[in-house]
Amino acid sequence: MKVVLIIVAIVTALYAAKVVEVSKEYQTSQKCKSCHLQIVKDWEQSWHSKSHYLKDEYFRATSEYVARKTRKSLNSVKVECATCHNPRISVTSTGFDYEVKVLMKLDKDSEVNKATQNSAISEGINCVVCHNIDKIHDDRDSSHRGMNRVSWTKSGTMVGPFSDSKSPYHKTEHRDFMDEKSDQLCFVCHANDKSVEGLVFTDMQSEYKKSEKGCVDCHMGPKVSGVAATLRLDNGKSKKRDIRAHTFSGGHVQSLWKDALGLSMWQKDSDIIIVIKNPQPHNIPSGFGSRELIIDVSYKNANKEIDSKSISLTRYYKRKRGKASIPHLAIEASEDMSIPALGKRILKVKNVAGASSVNVKVYYRLVNDEVRSILNLKEAIWSKKSLITSTNLKLK
Ligand code: HEC
Ligand code: HEC
Ligand code: HEC
Ligand code: HEC
Ligand code: HEC
Repeated sequence: MKVVLIIVAIVTALYAAKVVEVSKEYQTSQKCKSCHLQIVKDWEQSWHSKSHYLKDEYFRATSEYVARKTRKSLNSVKVECATCHNPRISVTSTGFDYEVKVLMKLDKDSEVNKATQNSAISEGINCVVCHNIDKIHDDRDSSHRGMNRVSWTKSGTMVGPFSDSKSPYHKTEHRDFMDEKSDQLCFVCHANDKSVEGLVFTDMQSEYKKSEKGCVDCHMGPKVSGVAATLRLDNGKSKKRDIRAHTFSGGHVQSLWKDALGLSMWQKDSDIIIVIKNPQPHNIPSGFGSRELIIDVSYKNANKEIDSKSISLTRYYKRKRGKASIPHLAIEASEDMSIPALGKRILKVKNVAGASSVNVKVYYRLVNDEVRSILNLKEAIWSKKSLITSTNLKLK
């Protein structure tokens, strides 16, 4: 027994995330603005900048719901989620003793409370998350993600895609995960995520079908000529570089979902066959567990709608005793209805008597009805239906 405990202790110590404090002059993106203005502006629009508890209603509501249902303190849940959502936090786990402190209202001056309220982490996934990763430990088992999969550089050393850069403000070092192996960087967090019951509700890394494009080609756009830093070091000029945008656009942004899927249909006897094709290398929807595709079918006679149907492709989650729940608390999930990576899904609907044409529209929604109502989400973006693509078919 003792031996087992010692081994467990060693293994835990080996894999426990090591905190490296970031000194004030590098903590926030404000400090980078004077030389990297456009990058900071791009990043501010991205959802990486909204990954802090206070900046994303859906994330906040989920954290609070998890805390309530598991009877844990909210701060313990915040620390758990920070593994990927806020990996520069200064406390990496909480224990039973902290829960007791909270119950006795003695937590006010604790390290955990200080860590969760510290303004240094208010930007979530910011510059010093990605650019201070020293090593990515892909030898660790697949459940080690976020801060548990990386070690950090010393404060003030920025890793990047260049091997010949110099900056008067910080040290620079090249890493291949900033360059030809950048998928590896994204998979630090965008890989698999599981519920408190151990159910894996998203598994982007295993569903991924490697193609000639990497994550950055689509989510940071193609390389274009520009400057990485506006500082005039190169004989009074800023150095020309091939750079990408730091917008990390995804499912929250129209430019990306528009035409993200292909749509075709035909008539077969009394049925209409609808084929939705996904040319992207990961499933759609993917990533977070309660995204939804909505397929609205409208039957028309001349220009008048005579009937309609709505099909939802999403996943539903159940807790203990079969109660409807959210991904993070689930013990089971309904069938995965997403369109597989580089694959397709075929739907069949009945024709309607008197219809002369059919119109089909495919929409994307960030959160399905069930999860939205459990969490009582108020902001309009979560329920908004965003058009991906549509098509018409004349009937015989
Ligand atoms: C989610 C990870 C991530 C975050 C957050 C991030 N970067 Fe980057 N950054 C990258 C990647 C990947 C590249 C390499 C892009 C490429 O292929 O050119 C890069 C490249 C750069 C470059 C070199 C220019 C270029 O486009 O290649 C600079 C400078 C830079 N980042 C600064 C910043 C600053 C400043 C911030 C904060 C506002 C920031 N980055 C936030 C991942 C990140
Ligand atoms: C005083 C100006 C200045 C400030 C402030 C500054 N940088 Fe830089 N940075 C530079 C210069 C100059 C380069 C080199 C650009 C080149 O070679 O094209 C650079 C390069 C980089 C690179 C690319 C390194 C590589 O080798 O690929 C990253 C990443 C980076 N900076 C991140 C940051 C972050 C994060 C901050 C804020 C915490 C920051 N910088 C603040 C001037 C600055
Ligand atoms: C430290 C963990 C981490 C790393 C590394 C990381 N991400 Fe993220 N990413 C997140 C989290 C967490 C969110 C969700 C934030 C939110 O919505 O509050 C996110 C959001 C996104 C989104 C927006 C998704 C949407 O639904 O709109 C895109 C796109 C994205 N990341 C792409 C990337 C790419 C590409 C890379 C690699 C260059 C990368 N990320 C690296 C954790 C990470
Ligand atoms: C060929 C282009 C392409 C590549 C490569 C690609 N994606 Fe995407 N991704 C998309 C498109 C298009 C969407 C928007 C679809 C939607 O959500 O409606 C998307 C959506 C996402 C989302 C939001 C998912 C959702 O359904 O809400 C995340 C997160 C994401 N991608 C991460 C990644 C990561 C991480 C990689 C690399 C492992 C990657 N993507 C590679 C095109 C791409
Ligand atoms: C293994 C890394 C990881 C951990 C741990 C993690 N997340 Fe996430 N989370 C992500 C990534 C990556 C995304 C972005 C995926 C996407 O947008 O499709 C995300 C997105 C989300 C979203 C969707 C946000 C949006 O704006 O649509 C919610 C809600 C969320 N996480 C809640 C949580 C909660 C609550 C916890 C802790 C109980 C947690 N996550 C722990 C990686 C993680």
